[in-house]
Amino acid sequence: MKTIGILTSGGDAPGMNAAIRAVVRTGIYHGVRMVGIKQGYHGLINGDIQEMNLSSVADIIHRGGTMLRSSRSDEFQTEEGFKKALSILDIFGIDGLIVLGGDGTLKGARELSKAGIPTIGIPCTIDNDLGYTDFTIGFLTAVETVVEAISKLRDTSTSHGRANIIEVMGRRCGDIALYAGMAGGGESIIVPEVEFDVDEVCKKVISGRNRGKLHHIIVLAEGVGNAYDVAKKIDSKTGIDTRVTILGHIQRGGTPTTFDRIIASQMGRDAVELLLGGNSGKALGIKCNEIINLDISEALLIKKEFNKNMYETAQILSI
Ligand code: F6P
Repeated sequence: MKTIGILTSGGDAPGMNAAIRAVVRTGIYHGVRMVGIKQGYHGLINGDIQEMNLSSVADIIHRGGTMLRSSRSDEFQTEEGFKKALSILDIFGIDGLIVLGGDGTLKGARELSKAGIPTIGIPCTIDNDLGYTDFTIGFLTAVETVVEAISKLRDTSTSHGRANIIEVMGRRCGDIALYAGMAGGGESIIVPEVEFDVDEVCKKVISGRNRGKLHHIIVLAEGVGNAYDVAKKIDSKTGIDTRVTILGHIQRGGTPTTFDRIIASQMGRDAVELLLGGNSGKALGIKCNEIINLDISEALLIKKEFNKNMYETAQILSI
């Protein structure tokens, strides 16, 4: 394998840059020519490709975002777009690809591999919604951001005696809400995986208030529904002023945590060495503190399990 391309696709995630650095440096270490494809599959279709060397990835390990930029490409999912991508790979002499992103990105990698392009996927998404891996790169950084926001909200919640809903990202997955809710000591955690009863939340707000608690933090995952509707119900049923903060894309930025940098570095190296070892269609992950890889088709079939035990612990601790 003489030339390897790397791209980042879908929603960006802190730690993507650390993975890019690891991929590029490992490739160069093994004497491979490395190229960066800009703006994900969109850039692949349009031939937006640049040479990468040791210094192109200097000073990025600690930076959020992705130096290669990202996009969600509808065109890549069409037959025509996919064909264009294949011809660009041929024109640029790219023999193997490493793609960084979430489930949509991995599906793209699976298709490229089926079409005969050796491709490896690295899971990067703040959502942590891939069932085959304990953690995706970027998730724990996003959780840190939410925990910091909860601490700040708690101050003002107490000062004003309000209930505060903080809506967090995660698409249909409640992991960001669960982890941040637990670490931030949130009183209520509302996730799509567990049926939620607004009356239970109200009971908790009232019982907290009756024993002198001034704040009430409700961490709500975006997959549940509209935070403002929930706030209105709590407000009218309890009489307690209930405010909404939608944290939004702030969760996707910022300097990656140590853990995200470490798994990104390790997976980046492994991705290159898997390609050089003649593998294709593999997804990297981490299970029980071990970096693993498995067939992307198999990986995508593994259902994401919600950590009910952790949810129960958070509930017990927030009585
Ligand atoms: O997948 C990452 C994510 O941030 C989700 O949590 C969120 O639902 C979505 O992307 C937002 O997408 P966009 O940045 O395209 O609005």
